[in-house]
Amino acid sequence: MEKLVSLCKRRGFMFQSSEIYGGLNGFWDYGPLGVELKRNIKDAWWMDMCKGHNELIQPEGSPTPYEMVGLDCTILMHPQVWKCSGHYDLFHDFMVDCRVSKKRYRFDQVRGKWVEYNGQRIFVTVMCEPENEDDEVKQRALKFFNLRNKDVERLTFDTGFKSLDKLAVEERTSVLAPDAKELNSLTDPREFNLMFKTYVGALSGEEGAAFLRPETAQGIFVNFKNVLDSTRIRVPFGVAQVGKSFRNEITPRNFTFRSREFEQMEIEFFCHPDQSPQWYQYWRNRRLRWYTDLGLAGERLRLREHDQDELSHYSCGTADIEYAFPFLPEGEYGELEGIAHRGDFDLRSHMEGKLDPKERPLKLELNEHGQPKHRGSGKDLTYRDDLTNERYIPHVIEPSAGADRATLAFLCEAYHEDEAPDDSGQMQSRVVMRLNPRIAPYKAAVFPLVKKDGMPEIAKDIYGELKKKLNVFYDEKAAVGRRYRRQDEIGTPYCITVDSQTLVDKTVTIRDRDSLEQWRVKIDDVVSEVEQRIV
Ligand code: GAP
Repeated sequence: MEKLVSLCKRRGFMFQSSEIYGGLNGFWDYGPLGVELKRNIKDAWWMDMCKGHNELIQPEGSPTPYEMVGLDCTILMHPQVWKCSGHYDLFHDFMVDCRVSKKRYRFDQVRGKWVEYNGQRIFVTVMCEPENEDDEVKQRALKFFNLRNKDVERLTFDTGFKSLDKLAVEERTSVLAPDAKELNSLTDPREFNLMFKTYVGALSGEEGAAFLRPETAQGIFVNFKNVLDSTRIRVPFGVAQVGKSFRNEITPRNFTFRSREFEQMEIEFFCHPDQSPQWYQYWRNRRLRWYTDLGLAGERLRLREHDQDELSHYSCGTADIEYAFPFLPEGEYGELEGIAHRGDFDLRSHMEGKLDPKERPLKLELNEHGQPKHRGSGKDLTYRDDLTNERYIPHVIEPSAGADRATLAFLCEAYHEDEAPDDSGQMQSRVVMRLNPRIAPYKAAVFPLVKKDGMPEIAKDIYGELKKKLNVFYDEKAAVGRRYRRQDEIGTPYCITVDSQTLVDKTVTIRDRDSLEQWRVKIDDVVSEVEQRIV
């Protein structure tokens, strides 16, 4: 992971936000290569899920044909949206504060191990990379018990780490917090709402208060009626949206995996309640296949169905698409995307008022005066099937993906070290990003073998033709072997070289990044040759 992080910075995939001022925790900027990669991922998602979807045919595994449309909603919305969606009351994590270090941690993210010495058992916690956890616990325990390195044998360590939320309440007095020197310095866990609050217009009091959206989904629900009224769309259909979301994460970490500002790619798919279990199955499989088609195949990717007690307040079925990111402990996976069966929770909440998630079936949540706790819009968000005349509230299947997590997973999967011949044919080690050509930042690089004999002029013409259609790179500096290396390291799938034979027969070589195979193509065919290989 360290190698990838350093490559990302060195070659311009990602930078820490406001880096020259020391950075801002949980915020990341995409550099010249990163912006292309992430945009290609979002474009692939939009094309495959929405724009390129053919509503006239029945896709493999889907119960029926269906339509797809898109939306682009605002980040700030009426505050009532978040009250009815449940985010105002329920969108929180538990945090603990350290009275000694004044630091704040997410309760379920503080990990540690029991250590015993001389009859005293303490729970030593650490906040570091998984591979350093054992060492760090050892060092902290030695320090706490005032021992030297050579005394490590006198300590007894429990096997396995666990997180703080797995300890019994009475065990918490024995916790050595990650940055404390004494035991029992952590407060009891407290709720912390993850929504960023801001103020709209000149009103600074609660009247002007608004929230930066923590998900793009709600913009779709509140526009359900607008979409129905402004198009001829019929259930089943999906609405897609890509956009920024914001969450005031307590401990952002693991590069861009948990950020405070990130992008989501969400679909709200509206269907008849009776058909919703089939649509749920369809979307689980369809979304998993999207990742495998783009190169996340293999053991590191999996689909995991949630246990009943893991389900969100609105969900009657959720599966996560997960990836074994290299920064996670062995055997652990991180969520890339959730596919949730949300029933009619959202449309009903925006119609009637916030529903009580503890009630089954769902009921309106009432305040102490017996009135709705948070009033809905009162607008009719039911759907009338004009063929059967049936009126109902559609059920929703929601495939909700993170563009930044997808980008990170594709980068992790692509990173390889292998060997390739240099200019003199000697095998040399190289770093190669095996990105799927569709999402690679540059599709091809064009080189003149040498800077003379008219080769640069021909190469620049080819570059100009390619540039009209694709993102390509021109390079005439350094030996050609080094130029290949530079492109391999950023995942450019094809390198096109103008050499002395070009001057004779108007052909160039194309080199494949992964197989290292080289073949000759007529100059006039270069654009179509590259184009047909990157779709
Ligand atoms: N509308 C449902 C929803 O927002 P979620 O599981 O909270 O569900 C969906 O978020 C996806 O958004 C996640 O699978 C993840 O890819 C991405 N995501 C959520 N929080 C994130 C964060 N703090 N940083 C980066 N991506 C995040």
